[in-house]
Amino acid sequence: MELKGKKIVLGLSGGVACYKAAELCRALTRVGAEVHVVMTEAAGHFITAVTMQALSGNTVFNDQWDSRVANNMAHIDLTRGADAILIAPCSADFMRKLAHGVCDDLLSTLCLARPRQLPLLIAPAMNVEMWQNPATARNARQLRADGICIFGPAAGEQACGETGLGRMLEPEDLLEELVASFQPKVLAGKRVLITAGPTFEAIDPVRGITNLSSGKMGYAIARAAREAGADVQLVSGPTALPTPHGVRRTNVQSAQQMHDAVMAAVGGQHIFIGVAAVADWRVVNASEQKMKKHDGETPSLQFEQNADILASVAATTSLSGWPYCVGFAAESENLVEYGAVKREKKGIPLLVGNIGHHTFGQDENTIVLFDDHGHTVLPKADKLTLARQLVSEIAKRLEQRSLLK
Ligand code: CTP
Repeated sequence: MELKGKKIVLGLSGGVACYKAAELCRALTRVGAEVHVVMTEAAGHFITAVTMQALSGNTVFNDQWDSRVANNMAHIDLTRGADAILIAPCSADFMRKLAHGVCDDLLSTLCLARPRQLPLLIAPAMNVEMWQNPATARNARQLRADGICIFGPAAGEQACGETGLGRMLEPEDLLEELVASFQPKVLAGKRVLITAGPTFEAIDPVRGITNLSSGKMGYAIARAAREAGADVQLVSGPTALPTPHGVRRTNVQSAQQMHDAVMAAVGGQHIFIGVAAVADWRVVNASEQKMKKHDGETPSLQFEQNADILASVAATTSLSGWPYCVGFAAESENLVEYGAVKREKKGIPLLVGNIGHHTFGQDENTIVLFDDHGHTVLPKADKLTLARQLVSEIAKRLEQRSLLK
């Protein structure tokens, strides 16, 4: 229930992406938001108020002179007590209105009359040429300067048959953006590199050795860091997880590939978080062709040790102090003792201990943070909650560090 207790005014202006607004409305209510829909006249050409009313469970407003509003103050009342206004889709014309303070219908008037601290977020949706037109670019710049947050647009195939920037973000991406907008920006301006998931060490072209890491914790941390305002790059072993919105992702298979991808990306990073369950060994006598079975013969594999990615990154920090390195450890026993020792051994300021390997693939986790001052337990919670707590703990430590310098 990510948006439980949040009151969201969802504004629809005219555009074919109104069909996605129905899905967005549904997604918002599913995560607990109270949604109040306001539509422009043009939006009514693309979707009916009845649909939006059924999905939001609240009266839909589209007329400044609606006789159902006794005091005729819908443009004031709707936004008082709201937590955000999200205009999705936001047409080129509606961007113009917002940029110029036009208030000639209910939606534009309530935007102009919103309390100053109420966030206004827009999801542009239009043809690629309309988006790239200097007039729209000028309006977008003005909106940003006015503190209005612009989500997207995305690039791709458009309803008009052309291709390019201008598609409205998908409902699930808009939901992620909206949820993120409520998170404190404790890592604003920071670059964060994260490894996640398992690695896969080939035995032959169709077989290999891997582990049960699902990648969920690493992906949750990537999302939480991005929500906190960071620029996030994820180096991921094979997983079936979707990339968190706004995160760049490099896919790798083996520990060696993960090592190379990390070392190529580590320059200029402020924070490195090694969450991946990296194979300690690789097969040296891997076969180039698929191994065939021969009666009575059992193959034997020879291993050599993989480079320790976290330790390699930690070794690069000595001069600049960056990146701040965070490691993970899963221990099946004596977590407190082993965690502290592992942190020293890896030469890192912060190590996150998981209690037991049974955390792999689960949605919930309990973690323990080890640093110079000892250890702190973060009690059992879902992985995104823990990821946000961890991001906040990292930010706290970075701040303390810069205060000490
Ligand atoms: N790690 C890494 N590269 C490796 C192995 C581990 O970057 N080749 C990182 C993991 O991403 C994680 C931490 O190191 O952040 C976990 O180390 P772990 O495998 O638990 O510890 P080891 O040092 O391998 O010790 P042991 O297996 O003996 O517990």
